[in-house]
Amino acid sequence: MNENFVKTAVIGHPIAHSKSPLIHNTWLGKYELNGSYEAVDIAPDVLGTGVKALVKQGYCGFNVTLPHKIAIIDLCDEIDARAKTIGAVNTVTICDGKLYGTNTDAFGFAHNILETCKDKGWDDWSFAGGRAIVLGAGGASRAVIYALLNQGVPEIVLLNRTREKADELAQMAPDKIIVRSWDERNKIVIDANLIVNTTSLGMEGKPPLDIDISLAPPDALVTDIVYAPLYTGLLQQAKGQNLRHVTGIGMLLHQARPGFELWNGVMPEVTPALIDKVLAA
Ligand code: ATR
Repeated sequence: MNENFVKTAVIGHPIAHSKSPLIHNTWLGKYELNGSYEAVDIAPDVLGTGVKALVKQGYCGFNVTLPHKIAIIDLCDEIDARAKTIGAVNTVTICDGKLYGTNTDAFGFAHNILETCKDKGWDDWSFAGGRAIVLGAGGASRAVIYALLNQGVPEIVLLNRTREKADELAQMAPDKIIVRSWDERNKIVIDANLIVNTTSLGMEGKPPLDIDISLAPPDALVTDIVYAPLYTGLLQQAKGQNLRHVTGIGMLLHQARPGFELWNGVMPEVTPALIDKVLAA
């Protein structure tokens, strides 16, 4: 094999339905790069040996998905500050047999919104423009909140069914994050600049997200990290109220970009054609 051949992968369990191989292989082809990207199923009880095997087989790096995003931390030689704060690693680079972990979910979340605003000409909207209402305080919420703080959101109002989890997450920036009761979700949107669903509610096979955003101001932007279905109940409401809205599929695509750049040296683009290809898969 050519010594410049860049072997990469995504690890998870189950992994067969991952869209990451389609995304990365499309980019490898588009930029005419010499490499591969596969889905590798590794069960939780053999994570350590599975990862060692990747190192031995000469992989340059890999993405990490459910259920390994936290367990992989202990297998990394180093993780960066972002991954430490978010408390999860989704991207690992292998260098001289050592594993370097980072997290690109916050990048994916922010760039999905930034790029959509650019494409749609929403020049008057910005993260810094006002309060963000965040629904949910699970793993995905940590990355979203990290992104919001990084993008200069002045205040975050966090609501979660289990309030203690929201209180704990608020420790990431106690001066910027206000925790409110889950029951307040319909009225709290009244002065929102941004409304984000980070819960799994609204996803195919899960209960719907029970919220009424009719009080949201007309210049608010609404987004959902759920992308199956693409138009969740929340986004349908936003559309019905003529509010700016951003679907969740772009987060998946944009979070893949920094890893691809780390391993292949090219920062790839998310195009409408790639979005259509991934949605059709
Ligand atoms: P992820 O890592 O994808 O964020 P998670 O850590 O399991 O997944 O978090 C799921 C989120 O969805 C949590 O905020 C969870 O609320 P709890 O902390 O109270 O469990 C939220 N969630 C799941 N089912 C819910 C429901 N029926 N009503 C309200 N929130 C729900």
